[in-house]
Amino acid sequence: MAVLEVEMSLYEAILARRSVRSFTTQKLDKETIPSLLEAAIRAPTAMHIEPWAFVIIQGKKILKELSDQIKVMLVTHTQSEQQQPSVKFFEQLIKQDFNIFYNASTLILICSNTSLTASEADCWLAAENLILAACAMGLGTCIIGCAAPVLNLSEIKTKLGIASEFTVVAPIIVGHPSDTPVRSPRKHPKVLSNIQTN
Ligand SMILES: Cc1cc2nc3c(=O)[nH]c(=O)nc-3n(C[C@H](O)[C@H](O)[C@H](O)COP(=O)(O)O)c2cc1C
Repeated sequence: MAVLEVEMSLYEAILARRSVRSFTTQKLDKETIPSLLEAAIRAPTAMHIEPWAFVIIQGKKILKELSDQIKVMLVTHTQSEQQQPSVKFFEQLIKQDFNIFYNASTLILICSNTSLTASEADCWLAAENLILAACAMGLGTCIIGCAAPVLNLSEIKTKLGIASEFTVVAPIIVGHPSDTPVRSPRKHPKVLSNIQTN
């Protein structure tokens, strides 16, 4: 499989990565998706199950339509379940022009074909590989976790060609960033103990 060349070390990519929510209209090169999937499937996998499968959705129009559909379902679902979503999130959801996929050109869904706990971990490890590889290629990504519950409704899975035995674990948008977001802060790592012996 052809893999794109990158000029960033892994550690540089880890430090440079941030969630990108603003994209240019430039489409991804055709080698990009295979390269990202190759990076994803190199993730560690418990008992070598390799539970992942991928759905690629490309095109701003289809993603805007999907966003609109998911927004309606999210609002209805949270109201019927009497959940208490954050006010800020709810205010965004009900704005007509708010696109939960931030006008990215591409959405990749990492799905799991088992419900074993470890398979979800495998999919998240694959997600991080994909995200870091994208960053090293100069691309922006953002996990769109809010979409996962709706993407897992049977009518949406049918529409997207996701077989019933698969569960969407990690929805990730990918595109060419139109700006460089500031790095979000992190607390210092909390070390509970540091045990050393000779
Ligand atoms: C499991 C998960 C779900 C997320 N879901 C969303 C989401 O639905 N929408 C969004 O804009 N960002 C989402 N994010 C991105 C986080 O908001 C972001 O990672 C966090 O604010 C830290 O910023 P950074 O990624 O730039 O370091 C999600 C991140 C994770 C790990």
